Parts: sequence; structure tokens; C-alpha cells
Amino acid sequence: MRVIRVSDYEELSLRSADLIASLIILKPDCVLGLATGGTPLGTYRDLIRLYREGRIDFSQVSSVNLDEYRGLKPNDPHSYRYFMDQNLFQNINIDPAHTFVPDGCESDPASACSKYDAIIDRFPLIDLQLLGLGGDGHIGFNEPSDCFIRRTHCVTLKEETIRANSRFFQDKAEVPHQAYTMGIADIMKASRILMIVSGSSKAAILRQVLEGPVTPAVPASVLHLHRNCTVIADEDALQCCDRLCKDSQFILP
Ligand code: F6R
Repeated sequence: MRVIRVSDYEELSLRSADLIASLIILKPDCVLGLATGGTPLGTYRDLIRLYREGRIDFSQVSSVNLDEYRGLKPNDPHSYRYFMDQNLFQNINIDPAHTFVPDGCESDPASACSKYDAIIDRFPLIDLQLLGLGGDGHIGFNEPSDCFIRRTHCVTLKEETIRANSRFFQDKAEVPHQAYTMGIADIMKASRILMIVSGSSKAAILRQVLEGPVTPAVPASVLHLHRNCTVIADEDALQCCDRLCKDSQFILP
């Protein structure tokens, strides 16, 4: 696992957007695994800027998102489909037919999950999977558990996740309690993983991820087993990792 230490959120956003842009330049028909939430907003803003400057072209890119709230329609302003449309897709020249998000309207979880697995399986691989880090260590909506769940599944969100995500809703009571999420095996199959972590609220969990054992109780810890995983974290997020190297870039064994 390679860790890149950056000063703040702005630098994190620039560095992650540059990394994704490099992939698009080298492989114009790449498949991007994308995340929602607050952390990638700056990355998406910077990707849109690079697109507007004529430096990247999304016309052949495909994207597969990590997750979606169960029960929300694509045009619901709180749905992750809506988030992606507003914050990235509508501002670049990606073909909407090549962008995929689990179907939150599919009420039968087994059907929703197998349909999304079939979509993922259409691609030989995800070239780069972008991840945020949940306050309880979740990636996608793979919540802490006693086992890693391999493929797309319906998850009941932990109280901490509902509380953290309530900032996007008027009222905590509006936050859906369930979501469909890509599983750990599909995340781990990506050729490259990029996890971005910002702010002091993530410091304690980032320490567990970077310094602790690999365990499904801290789902992101599984990333230690990936052969090409980069974590970009800012000083605030790394503030509890005293024992780690202070260099701007280092490799964790
Ligand atoms: C969302 C997702 C989640 C978020 C995580 C962190 O698609 O996959 O795992 O990345 O909840 O969210 P923020 O960035 O809002 O702190």
C-alpha cells in the first residue's frame, strides 16, 4: 500500500484528479469505479476543470458506481445516481449509457444485486476504483462485519453511517436505512485502487486501517492485500498515525 501525504483537501483533490486523468489519457476506454460522498467532490470538480481545459476526454470512458440507497429513484436529489449526474456526468462528455449505479428502485434485493453483478461482469476489469473511507471503516457500503461479503449485496446501514450521511438530508429520519453496495471481491479485483481520506474526523479510523490488522471489523483494512493500492490522505486525516513515516510518500509493507 502506497500512502501519499498531502497538506490539505485542495491538494488531495488535485492529486487524485491528476491520477485519474493520467489513466484516462493512457487508456481512453478505461473503466472507472466511482464513489459518492463528500470526499470525492473536489476530485470531480478538478476532473471537470481538466475536461473543460481540453486535457481529458471521457467519450470512451465507462463508470461503475459503488453503491445506491435502497428505495430512492434516480431523480431523487438524495440518490447517488442524482449525485453523480450533478457532480460529474452532466459536466463532462461521458456517454450516460456507459455510466452505471445500482438500481435503488428495484425492491427485490436479490434481483437488484444479481443485476448489478451482471453489469460489473460485463467489464473485463475496473481499471481504477476510487474509494472514500467511512467513519466506521466502511468502503462502498461494506459495513464492519464478521466476514467480507464478496459481491453486490443489500446492507443495513450502521447507526454511525446514517448519522454521518444525515448531513446530506434535511432530517436524519429521511436517511434510508438500507443500500445496495458492490462487494469486497469486486472492489479488490480492480487493477488499481485509490482511496482518498481527508479531515480530522477520519484520523482515528485511518490509523486503524493503516496500522491495524486486516479484519472485516474494519473493512478498508482489506486494502493491504491489494497489489496496487494508493491512499491519498491529508495531514488532518494522518494526525493519529504518529508511528508512520513522515515522508510525503511511503510504502506500507
Ligand atoms: C459512497 C461510499 C462511501 C463513502 C464514505 C465516506 O459511495 O462509497 O463509502 O466513500 O461513506 O463518505 P464521505 O466522503 O462523505 O466522508
